[in-house]
Amino acid sequence: MSAPKKLAIHGGEKTVTKTFPWPVYDDSDVRAVADVLRSGQWGDPDVSGPVARFEKEFAAYCGVRYAAASVNGSVAIRLALIAAGVKPGDEVIIPPYTFIATATVVLEANCVPVFVDIEPDTYNIDPARIAEAVGPKTKAIIPVHFGGLACDMDGIMAIARERGLAVIEDACHGHGAEYRGRKLGTIGDAGAFSFQSSKNLTSGEGGITITDNPELYETIASLRNVGRKKGHQWYDHFNLGCNYRMTTLQAALLLSQLGRLEDQTRRRDENGRYLAGLLSGIDGILPLARGRGETRHSYHLFIFRYDAAKFNNLPKPEFARWLAAEGVPAFMGYPRPLYKQPLFLEKKFFSAAIPPGVDYSGVSCPVAEKACTDEAVWISQQALLGDRSDMESFAEAIRKIQRHCLS
Ligand SMILES: Cc1ncc(COP(=O)(O)O)c(C=O)c1O
Repeated sequence: MSAPKKLAIHGGEKTVTKTFPWPVYDDSDVRAVADVLRSGQWGDPDVSGPVARFEKEFAAYCGVRYAAASVNGSVAIRLALIAAGVKPGDEVIIPPYTFIATATVVLEANCVPVFVDIEPDTYNIDPARIAEAVGPKTKAIIPVHFGGLACDMDGIMAIARERGLAVIEDACHGHGAEYRGRKLGTIGDAGAFSFQSSKNLTSGEGGITITDNPELYETIASLRNVGRKKGHQWYDHFNLGCNYRMTTLQAALLLSQLGRLEDQTRRRDENGRYLAGLLSGIDGILPLARGRGETRHSYHLFIFRYDAAKFNNLPKPEFARWLAAEGVPAFMGYPRPLYKQPLFLEKKFFSAAIPPGVDYSGVSCPVAEKACTDEAVWISQQALLGDRSDMESFAEAIRKIQRHCLS
């Protein structure tokens, strides 16, 4: 048998030489932004301008009646939470395996995040654990469709309906993804998306909240516009809002980019399925499970579970670094669950509404902890815009590392 090839991390040739640029744009995007620039209408008080047009088109794309654009995904979640009626000191259930914003928006709304562990095979919040965590102070759940894979929304909505809880979907990874044929973000009371630069639909920064509920929409739209209400004077303010408005330049870019989302999402979904099939054939590599009602995955992240035992106990962070050196846009993801962040351990909450007894030092979510330290490896979304031969090269890079480890 020939000796395994030298790894790229040790100075050998990369397995993957192609690069996967993001964002994707062409002259049509440049023209869309330049037109707004020339118009001089960079802000959007006008109901017929690019922001309103983008809201209408994104709502139609998702299949809901209302959308309120804002400055980022964090604000898009927080405004929905406040509009849903949470009060200071209320508890909000969230997963610990997510970006920090899912938790900080709860604190910023003067509420208490309650962490509920994730499922081992999807890394999404576990409905069985939600049922155990609901108490008299629980007012809302924020399920995160992590990486663009739909949560078990049937399970979550059943608990929410039984216990009278609001459901705000964090769909910041889930543009164009579906659950039982419905777009993510349309199943709970409201859904929130981010347009930050890494996201599957982006304008550098930005966010949007979608809903079918007219009262929720009116409140969210008012909160993001310094508490104004439609039909009233510019200097009339009814709610404790702020200026969280999106600019026309962002909206024009998003309108242009939205035209690509459907094709890009279809391609990521097809490539993701193909890659999952390829990786399932490698001992010690297990792609996250599909088929729990999710009908389309947006693969903001392609995530697989790594078993170091099958790679001569190479620690996960090293494995991810070696894989990235081979040219696969891979990384190890979150180093620790959110409740182990200094923010939570040191309780830097700056809110009198958080009861003094709240303490995160004893929280334990073993599945999330294992995902962080040992198991989860992420491949970023733009890599899934390649072709089948690229997916084959990603699998080959992993096999190359394995051969090296076992030689
Ligand atoms: C799961 C999740 N929720 C919320 C956010 C917040 O979005 P933004 O950065 O646009 O505020 C992000 C952004 O990375 C995210 O990944």
